[in-house]
Amino acid sequence: MASLLVLALFCTVLPLILASTSEPVRGPKEFKVGNYVGWRQPYVNETELYNQWAANRRFRVGDSLRFEYKNDSVLVVDKWGYYHCNTSNPISVSNDGNTVINLVTPGPIYFISGDPDHCKNGQRLVVEVMTLHPISQSPPSIASPPQPYWAVSPAPSPQSSSGVSVSVTLVSVLMALSVNVVTLVLGAP
Ligand SMILES: *[C@@H]1O[C@H](CO)[C@@H](O)[C@H](O)[C@H]1NC(C)=O
Ligand SMILES: *[C@@H]1O[C@H](CO)[C@@H](O)[C@H](O)[C@H]1NC(C)=O
Ligand SMILES: *[C@@H]1O[C@H](CO)[C@@H](O)[C@H](O)[C@H]1NC(C)=O
Repeated sequence: MASLLVLALFCTVLPLILASTSEPVRGPKEFKVGNYVGWRQPYVNETELYNQWAANRRFRVGDSLRFEYKNDSVLVVDKWGYYHCNTSNPISVSNDGNTVINLVTPGPIYFISGDPDHCKNGQRLVVEVMTLHPISQSPPSIASPPQPYWAVSPAPSPQSSSGVSVSVTLVSVLMALSVNVVTLVLGAP
């Protein structure tokens, strides 16, 4: 019985997993941030430059980002540092003009320019890194386990049970009718 349940769950979950990884499998990829623009302060007409660049791409664990820049820097920061353009507590700092960041952990990773003014003008980037293995993506949090979609639905409401009884009544009426018809036909001389 238990193994049957496991099999049933497996059969329902497997297509979902396959669907979520339906993107063609590819090897690790290096993305050049900003394409030909590179990593620089955006003009006033392109403050969403890096968000748009990131929105059109999918980043996976194992991929890497190459930042090319002049007279600037790349800081990996936390979410707070990203939104406040705060450079005082970076996770890492690079200013060699050609920086490769390997994406090793799933989840968001935040980059800003070391120049707070450049950052405020849009020289910042958040990249959502996806894992290669969707199953391991669920965080080990036990605080609020997600409701599985196959959870047993609540007891049928009175409305739906009355619907069932209506159709049962209909079926019995139809059966009674057909019995009558058969009796009539057979009984006819
Ligand atoms: C923004 O303006 C600059 C000139 O200041 C221009 O070269 C560039 O093509 C513009 N970018 C966009 C996305 O319109
Ligand atoms: C480099 O950047 C600093 C601060 O952003 C600026 O004061 C300086 O003039 C820049 N140098 C060049 C060569 O662009
Ligand atoms: C940046 O954050 C630190 C605390 O982490 C704070 O002391 C500092 O004043 C902030 N700097 C700016 C420019 O907001």
